[in-house]
Order: sequence, then structure tokens, then C-alpha cells
Amino acid sequence: MNYTVVLPAAGSGKRMKADKNKLLLELFGKPIFIYTLEVFEQDPQCEAIWLAVKADERAIIERYVNDYGITKVKGYAQGGMERQDSVRACLEAVPPCGVVLVHDAARPFIASRVIAELVNEAEKTGAAIAAVPVKDTIKKAAGGIITETVDRAQLWMIQTPQAFRYELLLNAAQAAHKEGFLGTDEAMLVERMGLPVHIVESTYENVKMTTPEDLIYGKAILESRKQEEL
Ligand code: CTP
Ligand code: MG
Repeated sequence: MNYTVVLPAAGSGKRMKADKNKLLLELFGKPIFIYTLEVFEQDPQCEAIWLAVKADERAIIERYVNDYGITKVKGYAQGGMERQDSVRACLEAVPPCGVVLVHDAARPFIASRVIAELVNEAEKTGAAIAAVPVKDTIKKAAGGIITETVDRAQLWMIQTPQAFRYELLLNAAQAAHKEGFLGTDEAMLVERMGLPVHIVESTYENVKMTTPEDLIYGKAILESRKQEEL
């Protein structure tokens, strides 16, 4: 099943504390978002990539896309105030397709196996998201006192990609916008429509480059992959 991927890339990377959009920071000389794009460039099932970018960063991002020989970028949408706005702008810009994937440009280490499973599941059921089991014990607290230990067996850390039938996600995104609902991922927009969202077990490597120490982990992942190739 072919799919289109939408990559929100219009953030500012405040938590990274760099003086520019964190996606432009380099790991071993290559910008973070290019690693992400290369995964989809190399996936034969991916037929189009759309990027949400800030108006004043479009030129530099487009130049990198060309310089690194990424051919599947079919268009750009203008990013919004919130990530959800950036994703919606992209969804409204892409030509209708069967399955659409939304993936943070800041997650460069997504595995092809996970993408394939998500696409299959979304085609079958409508909605599937990448997640990994929670590793730590999670407790709720109020005023610094534990009120509850949550059963870890039921907890998942949610990542992207999140895959959906295109019409389903577009409707959910537009309904959320109309009703002033702000979610922290696409699945929330679909859940509130009363539709089931399926989990595909992902890898712990699929971290989002968010704070400076994530860059250390990112470089370690790239190093270990290089070793495996030797
Ligand atoms: N993003 C976006 N539009 C926004 C905010 C975020 O397209 N208005 C994108 C980011 O570029 C990133 C992804 O959404 O690829 C995940 O967001 P996050 O990790 O929060 O990135 P930033 O918002 O850039 O970082 P921060 O929250 O630390 O400022
Ligand atoms: Mg953010």
C-alpha cells in the first residue's frame, strides 16, 4: 500500500536551546531533518512527502532538500502556531490519498519495519500509531504526595508516525479546529470522534530530538549503525 507522509517541521526548538530551528542542527555534518527525509526517500511505498515549514525557513529547507537529492518532496505548507495547525495546513494541501502518515521531522531514527506495519494497520482499520511500552514505574501525585500507582502493563509511550486513512484524519483535524480542541498528537483528534486507534509496537531508538542530551543519544545511534554496516 502506497502512502503520503506529512512532516511537521515548523517548530522553533525552544527546549533544544539552540539559536535556530533544532531540525537544522547537524549530526555528523547532516541536518537532523535530512536523516528523517532519507528514510522516506528510500521507502518504495512512500509516494509523496509534504513538509510544514515556517515561511522564513522555506528557502533554506528547500535548498537542503535539493542538495541532498531528496526527490519525493512534492510540496510545502506554511506552518502554524501549534504543531496541530502545521499538520492541518499540510493535510489540507496534499492531494487526497489512501493512507497518510504524520511523522515528526525531529524523529530521524524511525524503522522501516514500523512504517510498513503502521500503513498496513491503518489501511485495514483506519488508524494506527507507533508506541513503546513504558519502562519506568509511573505514579500520579498531588501536592508532592503519591495518589496512585498506575498499572504499567496498560501504559504506552506514544511516538510518531501516526497513520490514518486520509479522509478520516482530515475530518478529525478539521473538526478539532472548528471546535477549538488542541491535542498533543493526531490520535487524540481521532479518539474524540469515538473511533478506535490501534497500537503498533515501535523501537526505543525512535526518540524525538528534543533536548540537548538527545543529540548525544542520536550520535550514538548513528555510530552503532555504522559499526553494524562494517
Ligand atoms: N512543529 C511544527 N509546528 C509547530 C510546532 C512544532 O511543525 N508550530 C514540528 C517541529 O518542527 C517538530 C515536531 O513538530 O518536527 C515535533 O514538535 P517538537 O518536538 O515540540 O518541536 P518544537 O516545537 O520545534 O520544539 P519545542 O517544543 O522545544 O519548542
Ligand atoms: Mg513543540
